[in-house]
Amino acid sequence: KEIVMSGIRPTGFLHLGNYFGALRNFVRMQDEYPCFFMLADLHSLTTHPDTSQLKTNIHRVLAEHLASGLDPEKCALYCQSHIYETSELYLYLSTLSMVGELEKTPTFKDKVRQHPQNVNAGLLTYPVLQAADILLHRAHLVPVGKDQEQHLEMARNIVVRFQHRYGEVFPEPVAFNYGGELIKVPSLDGAGKMSKSENQYATLYLSDTDDLIRKKVMKATTDSGPTAPNSPKPDYIENLFLLMKLVSAPDTVQKFEADFNACTIRYGDMKKQLAEDMVRFIAPIREKAEAIQQDTEYLKKVMIQGAEKARASAQATMQVVRQAMGLNYY
Ligand code: TYM
Repeated sequence: KEIVMSGIRPTGFLHLGNYFGALRNFVRMQDEYPCFFMLADLHSLTTHPDTSQLKTNIHRVLAEHLASGLDPEKCALYCQSHIYETSELYLYLSTLSMVGELEKTPTFKDKVRQHPQNVNAGLLTYPVLQAADILLHRAHLVPVGKDQEQHLEMARNIVVRFQHRYGEVFPEPVAFNYGGELIKVPSLDGAGKMSKSENQYATLYLSDTDDLIRKKVMKATTDSGPTAPNSPKPDYIENLFLLMKLVSAPDTVQKFEADFNACTIRYGDMKKQLAEDMVRFIAPIREKAEAIQQDTEYLKKVMIQGAEKARASAQATMQVVRQAMGLNYY
């Protein structure tokens, strides 16, 4: 059976992009595969060196994983920093990673642009650490959103180089989404993907209150409507439809599609409908997460249990890795 591994950074609470790009797949995969799901706290240090919010974020993000349906009995749900073997493998893999390739990574270039005052070496080797997370469990399938495609390709390059030098230890990991294509959840302002760092009004969080959800959706960019039947949709309208497909009933989407094609669409009505469907989707997760977040004893138990499972897998892999690399002297 293929092994599954993925991670989410606790740099803030989770948004709809994290849910539909990653978490939704995690929940389904835990019933079908051995799974390792991780809160990537070490990765968050590369961009968020101030750790004063980290504990709160870890607790909330873990609660959001559980509220979305992850079962700590079915999968290993753990914190990256609890598995020290990660750092060891990260170091070995760094010797198989080329600086030129790392410098060309689009996510590295973005981060240099966003944090010009903190271009630390950890940012450059971010994909190496991510490869270590995956390879530590010898995982095949990595459920992620479209923005992680490049990082997966780099992990595969590292596997190929490792194989060439030290032999076959790791499978080549591939990005995974049920339904094939990796997805990109758009932001509400029609500009790019939903993310933690962009315009906060354009991102819907699993922790947003009903009123805030309504306010954000109603602010989404629209125009006065199509002027000819069956016109192509401008990006910001296409994005509204994409969001609607995620949370609304298929016949609701069809109705607004038909209205659009007939030039009778009223975007105010569409946004009201979308807002209510978003509220219906997000509110139960938010309420469950709030309750779970309060139960810090339970969260601690989940983290310990998850770390035990992840550590056992990591230690087994590292035995094989050290052996393959010739780091065994007696
Ligand atoms: P992060 O924390 O940025 O995002 C977590 C997951 O959410 C997905 N995602 C999206 N999917 C669709 N549309 C969006 N707008 C959107 N925004 C975020 C991401 O693709 C990701 O799946 N480097 C990783 C964390 C990581 C990791 C790993 C992932 C660390 N180690 C090992 C996989 C395997 C990251 O920063 O994700």
